[in-house]
Amino acid sequence: MPEGPTIQKMFAEVAPGYDRANRALSLGIDLWWRRQTVRMVAVQKGERGLDVCAGTGDLSFSLQRAGAQVVGADFCAPMLTRARQKGGPDGPFAATIAGPSFLAADAMALPFPTASFDFATVAFGIRNVADPKVALREMGRVVRPGGRVVVLEFTKPRVPLLGAAYRFYFRRVLPRLGAWISGVRNDAYRYLHDSVMAFPEREQFLALMRDAGLVSPRQRLLTGGVAAIYRGEVAS
Ligand SMILES: C[S@@+](CC[C@H](N)C(=O)[O-])C[C@H]1O[C@@H](n2cnc3c(N)ncnc32)[C@H](O)[C@@H]1O
Repeated sequence: MPEGPTIQKMFAEVAPGYDRANRALSLGIDLWWRRQTVRMVAVQKGERGLDVCAGTGDLSFSLQRAGAQVVGADFCAPMLTRARQKGGPDGPFAATIAGPSFLAADAMALPFPTASFDFATVAFGIRNVADPKVALREMGRVVRPGGRVVVLEFTKPRVPLLGAAYRFYFRRVLPRLGAWISGVRNDAYRYLHDSVMAFPEREQFLALMRDAGLVSPRQRLLTGGVAAIYRGEVAS
C-alpha cells in the first residue's frame, strides 16, 4: 500500500475531479451515506465537531448544516482548496451556511488540545491513513469524555450476488470509469479497490476501535453492506 506522501500526491491529482467522480461512480448514493453519518453523530446545535480526512468537505458541510461548528482537517492542500471554494462566495454552500473552517493536519498527529471537540468524524479516509489505530486514538483524544467518534467507510458486502457484483465493479469497472470521469491518469481508482480489499473486516474494525480506547463501538450497514458507519464513544 502507498505511504503518506504518495497518498497526498495521489489525492492532489484527483482533487479537481473528485466530487464529480464521487457523484457519478456512486450514482449519488455517497451523499445519502454522509447524511446517515450525520444522523449517527446525532449533532446537537452549537456542538464543536472535527471532520478528519475532510477532503473536499462534503461531510464537513453536512455536519455544519446540521448545526455544528465544524473544523475540516486534511493533509492534502489541493483537496482543502476545493473545500474552501465550496464554502466561498461563488460556492454551492455560500448562501446557506457560514463555515466550516478547513485546515491542514495529519490525522495521526492532530494539532488540537485534548477534549476540545464534542465529536470527530472521518468519511472514506481512515482506510488511507498509514496507521488507522493511531488516527482513531487521536480522534478519541481530541474529543471530550462522553463524545462520539464516527467513521464512514466502504466494506465488503457478504450477500453472495451483491458481493460478486461489487467485486466486479470495484476491480474491473471503477478503475477505468474513475480515471475517465476524474480525468486523472494515475492509479487512484485501482488504489481504491486495493485499499478497500485490504481494509479490516467489520468485526476487526470494531476491535480496532476498542484497542484505540473507544467504548461501546457499534456499526450500521448501508446499501447491503457496501459501506458501514461505525460509532464509538470516549469514556466518561
Ligand atoms: C477518499 S478522500 C475522502 C474525503 C472526504 N472525507 C469525503 O468523504 O469525500 C480521503 C482523504 O483522506 C486524506 N488523508 C489520507 N491520509 C491522511 C492523513 N494521514 N491525514 C490527513 N488526511 C489524510 C486525503 O488527503 C483525502 O483527502
